[in-house]
Amino acid sequence: MKPVVEMIFWIACFVCTATPIETARILAIIAIPSYSHHIAYQLLWTTLSRRGHKIVVLTTDPINDPSLTNLTEINFKSNYNVVTKINFIENMETHTWLSTVNEQLWPVCNQITENIYKHPEVRKMYELNSDTKFDVVIVETIKSPSLYALAYRFNAPLIGVSTLGLYNSNYYLLGAPVLPSHPSAWEMGDTTDFNLSLWQRIKNFIRLWYHIYCTLNHFYSEQQAIAEKYLGKNIPDIRDMERNISFVFQNQQKVLSFVRPQTSNVLSFGNFQISKKLAALPENLTEFITDAPNGFIYMSLGTNVRISSLSKHVQSIFRDVFASLPYKILWKHDSELPNKPDNIYIAKWFPQQSILAHPNIKLFIYQGGIQSTEEAVYYTVPLLGLPVLADQYTQVKKMVSLGVAKHLNIMKLSRENLNESIIDILYDEGYKKRMLKVKELNEDKPYDVLEHVIWWIEFVIRHKGASHLRTSIAYDPCLFLRLVPLSERLLFIIKTTLPGDYQKAIEKDIFSSSSALLCFLSFLHETRVSRGVIVFVPDNVFYPPPFPRSFLPRFTKGDSL
Ligand SMILES: *[C@@H]1O[C@H](CO)[C@@H](O)[C@H](O)[C@H]1NC(C)=O
Ligand SMILES: *[C@@H]1O[C@H](CO)[C@@H](O)[C@H](O)[C@H]1NC(C)=O
Ligand SMILES: *[C@@H]1O[C@H](CO)[C@@H](O)[C@H](O)[C@H]1NC(C)=O
Ligand SMILES: *[C@@H]1O[C@H](CO)[C@@H](O)[C@H](O)[C@H]1NC(C)=O
Ligand SMILES: *[C@@H]1O[C@H](CO)[C@@H](O)[C@H](O)[C@H]1NC(C)=O
Repeated sequence: MKPVVEMIFWIACFVCTATPIETARILAIIAIPSYSHHIAYQLLWTTLSRRGHKIVVLTTDPINDPSLTNLTEINFKSNYNVVTKINFIENMETHTWLSTVNEQLWPVCNQITENIYKHPEVRKMYELNSDTKFDVVIVETIKSPSLYALAYRFNAPLIGVSTLGLYNSNYYLLGAPVLPSHPSAWEMGDTTDFNLSLWQRIKNFIRLWYHIYCTLNHFYSEQQAIAEKYLGKNIPDIRDMERNISFVFQNQQKVLSFVRPQTSNVLSFGNFQISKKLAALPENLTEFITDAPNGFIYMSLGTNVRISSLSKHVQSIFRDVFASLPYKILWKHDSELPNKPDNIYIAKWFPQQSILAHPNIKLFIYQGGIQSTEEAVYYTVPLLGLPVLADQYTQVKKMVSLGVAKHLNIMKLSRENLNESIIDILYDEGYKKRMLKVKELNEDKPYDVLEHVIWWIEFVIRHKGASHLRTSIAYDPCLFLRLVPLSERLLFIIKTTLPGDYQKAIEKDIFSSSSALLCFLSFLHETRVSRGVIVFVPDNVFYPPPFPRSFLPRFTKGDSL
């Protein structure tokens, strides 16, 4: 080709590939009523709509910006009433996260998803004679799998999103290993670590796999029933829909998490809620923190944890320690503070990012939420973590391991340990220095993450899915999950043949010994298909010392091996 013709050819090629795809229709459903689950995506929805895509978002926290003419929001604020029944502080004494999920979140999530299906505007979209069409459906992968069926209804590819790391039950369906004792398994609360005893690993293994069994068989069948009630009986299994997901975006940046092996269809994003333009602070607040010779401390336990649900004793510890410090304190507090000392400013809500960005801030006392963690890193504020629920234990543990935070148990709080931790962080410049380094690492990325996520969404629209990213391991059966029902049946038979008095006493023992047996059987199986075993087998327990080199056979070129 002549140079000019060639140049025109390449320019034409560039223009063709760089032109955005024709505008698409996108349905996005974020079901869980929690502020942080919604602000994490708002930038994505606004950017997609400004690019010309028509997007319908089902959310509990709408953006309400009339200038976004391509964005339609359906408001599910009323679903907050369903979830506020759970008292997470009370649960800390009585529940593990898995039992909270099992006993409290599943019923709540069933109600939330049903409310979505029942909503007249949503109904109008999915009714049989409706001509509403979507090119892609985006659903939160957190505890609302019945909504996957809407992708099936609209005959559109499904994308998953999560504002925190995935559950191991999600990883299981995607074909990634299940890691019951690795710190990335945030749903295990504070029972994971790098150096656990064999007994703790076995307990974690049984607990997590049994939980996955219950999730996929009990919770998913209730969710299946909800989807069938509204979309008809002839929809496929929602577990298969999750296996067939094109990919999942999780708000879990590598630098800020315990990295684990995962499948190629799990992509990370983060920092979408970081404001380009900070909200102005109220005047009296600006005055309060500017006039702070030693700086100020900000304390907020997020939207799900109410200070008023802490015991009076714990509340007074915070007040007394804060009062004794030569610092100003901003305290997000949902009720009155009797005898409020002058150096404390309380409010029900603070513009958090504007506060973290203020030059006088010295410390952020928080509950370990992922969005708050990202903001603390972005504005380089050292942390004191008091985790309460979900992934907060893991987030705080990660920040401690990076040397930018300290951890305290809110149930074992005392004036001494709170005071000492605060003073330690404030008088050690290392925390701030390491935080600067973490920020630098986290923000050094080869591409703009928002553009990257949008590119993948448009990829799925162009190609009607991304099945090439899926691993066949997603379809391999797991022996443990197959054997649990057998063990339950066995237990039932033994129980019913015993005299009444023995039944109760023996129930727990039989269950744990039969689980241990299953555990061993599945261990034998897992070693071959490599699902779930990686962290379960501590190196020093199962592997004998290596043979001397001279014992090992040698293979040379030409040997059949
Ligand atoms: C809405 O989408 C159209 C294309 O479908 C685009 O031309 C327009 O700029 C978009 N409007 C806004 C406010 O984003
Ligand atoms: C793990 O624990 C054992 C025994 O408690 C100890 O000897 C070993 O050094 C620990 N390893 C790490 C990496 O912490
Ligand atoms: C999942 O994908 C497989 C293979 O691509 C297909 O055979 C199956 O029907 C799909 N199932 C669902 C529920 O979408
Ligand atoms: C700050 O001002 C707002 C209204 O301007 C008022 O509601 C609030 O009570 C004031 N707070 C303090 C601590 O003075
Ligand atoms: C916290 O420690 C500081 C410095 O050691 C001390 O002045 C203050 O009285 C202590 N506060 C409480 C409540 O113990």
